Amino acid sequence: MGKIAIVYWSGTGNTQAMAELVAEGARAAGASPELFTAAQFSAEKVKEYTALALGCPSMGAEQLEETEFEPLYQSLKPVLGGKGVVLFGSYGWGDGEWMRSWQEDLESGSATLLAEPVIVNGFPDEEGGQACRQLGEKLAQS
Ligand SMILES: Cc1cc2nc3c(=O)[nH]c(=O)nc-3n(C[C@H](O)[C@H](O)[C@H](O)COP(=O)(O)O)c2cc1C
Repeated sequence: MGKIAIVYWSGTGNTQAMAELVAEGARAAGASPELFTAAQFSAEKVKEYTALALGCPSMGAEQLEETEFEPLYQSLKPVLGGKGVVLFGSYGWGDGEWMRSWQEDLESGSATLLAEPVIVNGFPDEEGGQACRQLGEKLAQS
């Protein structure tokens, strides 16, 4: 089984809770995922992992968080070739546009999306939590 990194940015804890649920799902499937905030991760670390979960809420106007996460994501993109990736994040009043844009951008590169992105309104409820755990399982099975 390959190594899994779960990398997220979270301002008020909702996407962090999702990240922890993704980790829970991966552990339940037998993996030992490592969790990082955006500030703790870098492009140099990508080579240590076979699969990555990237999490960021909808910020700005349907955008990735621009100070830490967007620059990190831009630096990761060129080195994601051959990696299995899943995306997740929390949103507020929008309709998930930021995630559609993010998915489209990721799919235009060389990473393999392992599952449909998971988006949750606010804090993950039971259904959202289950979807996050399933992302973790997909990562573990990749
Ligand atoms: C500065 C700012 C901009 C935001 N922009 C959007 C947005 O464009 N669309 C949306 O659906 N929610 C938006 N939100 C709401 C957040 O996505 C939502 O509160 C989310 O749950 C925050 O996740 P977090 O707890 O992981 O930070 C915004 C929140 C903030 C603070």
